[in-house]
Amino acid sequence: MEQPDSVPFPLDPAADPAVEAAALLKQGCPVQNVLLPGGVTAVAALDHKTAKQVLGHAHLTKDPAHWPALTDGRIPDDWELGALVQGAGMLHAGGEAHARLRGLVSAAFRRTSIEAMRPRIEDIAHALLDRLESAGTDAVDLREEFAWQLPMQVICEVLGVPATAVAKLRDAFDRLVTPQPLESDQGGILAAQMTIAGELTQLIALKRENPGADLATELIRARDEDEDRLSDEELVQTMFLLLIAGQETTVILITNTVHSLLSDPSQVAAVRAGTHTWSDVVDEGLRHSSPVRYALMRYATENVEIGGVTIAKGEPVIAALFAAGRDPEVHENADRFDLDRSSRQHLAFGHGAHYCIGATLAKLEAEVALGALFTRFPHLALATDDLTTMRSIPLQGFEALPVLLQGGTV
Ligand code: HEM
Repeated sequence: MEQPDSVPFPLDPAADPAVEAAALLKQGCPVQNVLLPGGVTAVAALDHKTAKQVLGHAHLTKDPAHWPALTDGRIPDDWELGALVQGAGMLHAGGEAHARLRGLVSAAFRRTSIEAMRPRIEDIAHALLDRLESAGTDAVDLREEFAWQLPMQVICEVLGVPATAVAKLRDAFDRLVTPQPLESDQGGILAAQMTIAGELTQLIALKRENPGADLATELIRARDEDEDRLSDEELVQTMFLLLIAGQETTVILITNTVHSLLSDPSQVAAVRAGTHTWSDVVDEGLRHSSPVRYALMRYATENVEIGGVTIAKGEPVIAALFAAGRDPEVHENADRFDLDRSSRQHLAFGHGAHYCIGATLAKLEAEVALGALFTRFPHLALATDDLTTMRSIPLQGFEALPVLLQGGTV
């Protein structure tokens, strides 16, 4: 069995994820030492089988209390990925604490609750497209004007967050999503987190006075009835997580899938001919271009063996979700977006105890968004091939997607 290279492979937030995935997978060992921005090292699980094993492993926890480098103070407080690996919400909890926090919101994200939202999501999509139509023949940024707006409006309605609060939070959201290197953004992420947490604390106070038929009100009630079920900090962090976890990821899913479809018109033609559904398109989009590039971080609670390699207790492990979707052992011609492939299995929503709670909602939003968009604008075309990719380790997508709604060239 091949062993990982002892010199860690530097992960570059600006690298093309497909090129990076191919380079890592080519090294022959499914597990590699990698260097994250800020000089932090971790072990990365690279192929589908190994990444899945990491995501579901009973002795790899997401609770950062098991990461000695963090608890000993060797990770600087302002490490640019620090905000993404800790917090009081379910994403960074293990065991019973995780089950308790997840249990409080899971009913709201069950398939039947989500499917009931379809008509409302369709209304939101059509209203956004009405507004877009007025752009006429000019190029519009589909990411900003459509893909960003739809999931934000939906999750705000679910939670009961007023649209005015969202406008205030937009800048903070952007700073969280594309963290800047330490030297250029000292405190930027922490400030962004504080802005959002402050806004949510105000909202919670308002909702206590004026309860509504929304998830925020339900969570506040759970907190007020029994503090052991949910502390004040967990209440804010749970709302924070629900607002942020599904936003950029769903924006990227919609944007990347539109880009794949516009790059190969035969794929849209297959949907129009009835050979495939929009739901198939979304699954292939998730397989081909997982919005989450790396799932950060899990920590070994004891020595564990992954892909023939021993991971020492306390070591951090990340799972390469984008690379898993391009694993040549699982998918033939993995780099091609192809609705005809026999298997579209992917890990884009993770696996195991932390499997994405919003997966059904995200898929429904993307399915509705794509169907409405391509029906309303049958001649939709890319306005340029010159696209800028996001600079990010945890996510991968485009910064903007300029399109021509009525086709043609700019
Ligand atoms: C295309 C869209 C989405 C993608 C690709 C995505 C991806 C993921 C992934 C990979 C994880 C697991 C992370 C890990 O194990 O380390 C996760 C967890 C999570 N996601 Fe999503 N997500 C999406 C949409 C959503 C939506 C719409 C929501 C809610 C509104 C949401 C809420 C969450 C939450 C709360 C967790 C933590 C679950 C737990 O720790 O038990 N996500 N997501």
